[in-house]
Amino acid sequence: MDRVTVPIPGRSYDVTVGAGVLETAGSILPDLGRAAQAFVVVDGAVADPWLGPIGEALEARSLHVVPLTVPSGEAAKTMDVYGTLLHQLASQEAHRDDVVVALGGGTVGDLAGFVASTYMRGVGVVQAPTTLIGQVDAAIGGKTAVNLPEGKNLIGTFHQPLAVLCDVGALATLPDRDFRSGLAEVAKYGLALDPELLEGLERDPAPVLARDPAALEALVVRCVRIKAATVAADERDAAGRLFLNYGHTLGHALERLDAFAGRSHGEAVAIGMVFAARLAVARGLAAEDLAQRTARVLRSLGLESDGPLPPSHDILTAFRMDKKFHGGVRFVLLRAVGEPVVVEGVTEGELRAVLQDMGAPT
Ligand code: GLY
Repeated sequence: MDRVTVPIPGRSYDVTVGAGVLETAGSILPDLGRAAQAFVVVDGAVADPWLGPIGEALEARSLHVVPLTVPSGEAAKTMDVYGTLLHQLASQEAHRDDVVVALGGGTVGDLAGFVASTYMRGVGVVQAPTTLIGQVDAAIGGKTAVNLPEGKNLIGTFHQPLAVLCDVGALATLPDRDFRSGLAEVAKYGLALDPELLEGLERDPAPVLARDPAALEALVVRCVRIKAATVAADERDAAGRLFLNYGHTLGHALERLDAFAGRSHGEAVAIGMVFAARLAVARGLAAEDLAQRTARVLRSLGLESDGPLPPSHDILTAFRMDKKFHGGVRFVLLRAVGEPVVVEGVTEGELRAVLQDMGAPT
């Protein structure tokens, strides 16, 4: 088992990565103060088999465990589901000292984190991600959110967890599509911040694709270390943390234009990274090879690097609801692998040209 600290002054916490972390959570979790109840917000699809082990571990810490089941995927991140959870907490007499536990993918983590950050002005949350996206990215760093029909993650808070439990054993049974989605976020770290990680994936993706437990643990730990350092340096997304949004501007727009029921988050981000690479090349910021290399590594990880796009007019409209909008859309682009920059002043004409080059109708 590996432990990575997210060193935020006054609120530092550990991310524990390994096989069997959920069942041994009782001895891993920090002091939970006067918590008497643990409200486990759980994706219905992962309750079996993961609720049992973590439930027992929490009970061993003398907590009364209350499971609260929510739908899988982005369907959980609505104001309706959020409101239902608040009512459930209130009707079960959840108190300020109690804790919320997020058990499931990144979507459950975002939702449960938002509930925890707002119920009674904030209760503690433990993140227990069971997907690759959750373990390498979403569960760490305290971003919480629900979606609006107008845009992804438009409502949310920063609410750092008390602890993050990444049980890599859960990755063994993750559906292929979810696993590949997580690999898009892994590729993002490699492309934007960690050339060595990217080169390793390019050289030999086989152990990761075969879900070799040691390879997965090493991969998750490497990504968690990058995330922890990034969040510690820029908790509020004002500088370096923006780089973690590489590929997400188009990615979020695609998810939203498909009403959060089309491409998965990772699939949309994969296309978004190809788009960002092509935009960087079109602007003369990056060498031609960046776009090809991006598409190649994504394909080797089982992700699509192209495919049908909505009309560019709709995409440009969706960009205006991006959280990085600041008098115009700001894009994270790469000068080269591992050299991200935030670029302002990209014109609609430039964006339209790249989108049309990728096959988007007008
Ligand atoms: N997933 C991007 C971030 O946490 O900033």
